[in-house]
Amino acid sequence: MIPQIEKLLNEQITYEATASAQYLSMASWADIRGYNGVADFFYTQAEEERVHMTKLVKFINERSGTAVIPAIDKPRDDFNSLMELFEIFLESEEFVTAKINNIIYECLQHKDYNVHNFMQWYVAEQLEEEATARTLLDKLKIIGDDKSGHYLFDRDINTFQATNQPK
Ligand code: FEO
Repeated sequence: MIPQIEKLLNEQITYEATASAQYLSMASWADIRGYNGVADFFYTQAEEERVHMTKLVKFINERSGTAVIPAIDKPRDDFNSLMELFEIFLESEEFVTAKINNIIYECLQHKDYNVHNFMQWYVAEQLEEEATARTLLDKLKIIGDDKSGHYLFDRDINTFQATNQPK
């Protein structure tokens, strides 16, 4: 495996692990406050990011590289509102997308079409996740501070996840 690409893939493991921990922290925050639907949504997202991470670990090792399992910082666990959870969700996904796009760019620079092909799965995932994050954030902006709106959002969010996520 080309060393520069291996390094980028290992960095991506850290980003996926960080996202997983952040979403687990957000799930826990929502769970404690009675937002069971939002909690389930982020518990599921946390699991998905863990799958993204593990897929990279296996890929690197299968290609004679060495996957490095990183230490990660403690995620944020104090949030002001449901809206803030989804703002962080969108920012996190946009960050991950930018990093994936950079790997794609470097693959082309190094003519590493094998990794380029592997990363297409991540490109498709990011499109879905960013779209989900934007849609939910838009809904929360419409709801504003309305408590009954928050109740309905929490009740319905997993219907949305089930019907809008391809996994
Ligand atoms: Fe795997 Fe949504 O970043």
